[in-house]
Amino acid sequence: MIFPRTQFGDPILRKKAKRVPLAVVKKSGFPKLIADMFHTMRRADGVGLAAPQIGLPLQLAVIEAGPQRAKSKSQRARNERIVVINPKLLRASKEKSYDWEGCLSLDGVRGKVPRHKTITVRYTDERGVARTRTVSGFLARVFQHEIDHLNGKLYVDRMENMETLSTLGEFRKRKK
Ligand code: NI
Repeated sequence: MIFPRTQFGDPILRKKAKRVPLAVVKKSGFPKLIADMFHTMRRADGVGLAAPQIGLPLQLAVIEAGPQRAKSKSQRARNERIVVINPKLLRASKEKSYDWEGCLSLDGVRGKVPRHKTITVRYTDERGVARTRTVSGFLARVFQHEIDHLNGKLYVDRMENMETLSTLGEFRKRKK
């Protein structure tokens, strides 16, 4: 199924999400929830989706992205599908990069956001296995965006100012 998405203004997007107990990961309905989150994300042309965006206040997000931003749907479909549960940022590079971001909870707008170039994150995967990995580039950006969602933060909070905040039409003119 495709979940309805929460939009900015909904208080759920501003709350810290609750940790997912391991028992929930082991439940029979969990793979279906994950599959539906990926469906919802893909249908909306997104590269990440966090549970608060479908009205669930849980520390859970799905990501489909690589170190480079995919230029087409088929490129994106070849990217790794990552399920992130109860993530914790362990390290972040001082060096930052600026790039455009959108969000499935801020329909119709884009903005340029600074993010750490490389991060090390610890999380639990969809099988309940603890993972620690270091990611860079666009994938690191998506991880930071999704982890922010689980802490009640939106990308506009990370922008240094609102000068680049753009409608989709203006973004398309200026993205190069
Ligand atoms: Ni988002």
